[in-house]
Amino acid sequence: MAKDDNQIPKKMFIGVVWNCAAELKVLLSALLFFCSLITLFQFFPSSISNLRGCAAFPPPAAINFLSTSASPVENKKLQDVVIANGLTKRNFNAYGSAAYNFILMSAYRGGVNTFAVIGLSSKPLHLFGKPKYICEWVPHVETLNSVNVTGYKILPDWGYGRVYTVVVVNCTFPTSVGHDGVGGKLVVYASTSGGGDTDFDLTDTIDALTENPGQVNSLQFQAEPKYEYLYCGSPLYGGLSPQRVREWIAYHVRMFGEKSHFVIHDAGGVHPEVMEVLRPWIEKGYVTLQDIKEEERFDGYYHNQFLIVNDCLHRYRFMTKWMFFFDVDEFIFVPKETNLKAVTDSLSDYTQFTIQQRTMSNKLCYLDDNAGRIYRKWGLEKLVYRDIKRGIRRDRKYAIQPRNVFATGVHLSENLKGKTIHKTEGKIMYYHYHGTISERREPCRQLVNTTDKYLDGTPYVVDTTMREAAGAVKMFELRMIGPVLQKTHQ
Ligand SMILES: *[C@@H]1O[C@H](CO)[C@@H](O)[C@H](O)[C@H]1NC(C)=O
Ligand SMILES: *[C@@H]1O[C@H](CO)[C@@H](O)[C@H](O)[C@H]1NC(C)=O
Ligand SMILES: *[C@@H]1O[C@H](CO)[C@@H](O)[C@H](O)[C@H]1NC(C)=O
Repeated sequence: MAKDDNQIPKKMFIGVVWNCAAELKVLLSALLFFCSLITLFQFFPSSISNLRGCAAFPPPAAINFLSTSASPVENKKLQDVVIANGLTKRNFNAYGSAAYNFILMSAYRGGVNTFAVIGLSSKPLHLFGKPKYICEWVPHVETLNSVNVTGYKILPDWGYGRVYTVVVVNCTFPTSVGHDGVGGKLVVYASTSGGGDTDFDLTDTIDALTENPGQVNSLQFQAEPKYEYLYCGSPLYGGLSPQRVREWIAYHVRMFGEKSHFVIHDAGGVHPEVMEVLRPWIEKGYVTLQDIKEEERFDGYYHNQFLIVNDCLHRYRFMTKWMFFFDVDEFIFVPKETNLKAVTDSLSDYTQFTIQQRTMSNKLCYLDDNAGRIYRKWGLEKLVYRDIKRGIRRDRKYAIQPRNVFATGVHLSENLKGKTIHKTEGKIMYYHYHGTISERREPCRQLVNTTDKYLDGTPYVVDTTMREAAGAVKMFELRMIGPVLQKTHQ
């Protein structure tokens, strides 16, 4: 079934030239005839003479015949053929292709002999076909040999993809590559292997990564990471509330501390007022903003969330001890008696721990003082009703030690080396204020002054944990960046 990839384009090429020879003859005679007609037309009235313009160009079809494309689908249209006994052999004509074979986002080295190549690929191709990846290391010096290995593909968003699914190709060579200091490049051959059209094993050649001579420093893979905690954010889009983002970033910079970093991905959500809120923290070196708006061209799950988190994983894999994955309407919390460092240290035997949610109402606000002032309060202070309905499946978020992780997801990673722990309830949790970030109006819809509340059958209790932290977060923000954000709006 495996066909020689090189043969197909050659065969096609001959086919096209062969066809053209015959077509050209017909075409040229047609053109000759056509031009003589035009010459005649010059003597006719103007309404016909604008035909003259078209004589300057070959007819559109001729352009196709003259270009020698190797693509199987630009063939001449096949007709149905009547064969013996009145049997008609029906033919099928293929035009174009609806999804790309591979869309490269990035490729990163993950060690002396290993790389991760991150991109999107046609989902049905992966669901119903068996596309293959071959990785080749090509040294910059021609006298040195290239090496090929089979790429191991990981589909981290399996079941979620849309037109496109996320693919992480793990290219691991038997021995180290590029350690000789001459530099080289990683080429990936992505083959459809007959998925899409069994007549063709179409192979695309992807220049995934180029390293300059002397660029690789193999020590970087063992070095102490620069950061203790790095946050990989999901794509931000829509009309985000600057005030909510302000609270979120100040809260987490305070919690994650000096050796932390936040990677924020802008899929259109970082409008100028959100940018104002992030700018002081970017200037302080805590935040990196990545513009990923181009990903919107390719229809994947949730603004290509799985693509973005895998890019972030491999991009920062050796720069941080722990990597966190959660959203900007979620606030990590550890009990007062302890701190984040103590918690992560106690979990350092695990490659991954997941974090349980505390669901907060996004519209019930606590009215314990002057109603007029509630609008000036932070969301953390006023949204204090916690949903205590039991038995509902609650989404988890997670943190990993990324050096042991090869691909990742939204709620956890399933491609890692080492242990995962889910029992972390007492140690670490996150407060979820669903939807509050994506609205620019006041979140309080109902002001309540009771300590217990049922709403639409959902029981709530007052949980002032976050409210109690708010004062310190405000002080922290003021101390770190001054009063620049005091006038931030919802
Ligand atoms: C690729 O997979 C191998 C084996 O699981 C692993 O050791 C290596 O770190 C992975 N490479 C990357 C870049 O993730
Ligand atoms: C690696 O595989 C590609 C694609 O099949 C092929 O063109 C190339 O010659 C191979 N290189 C080596 C060194 O075998
Ligand atoms: C708050 O409590 C007072 C009585 O203590 C009551 O009159 C008022 O209606 C309550 N307000 C709300 C919003 O429930």
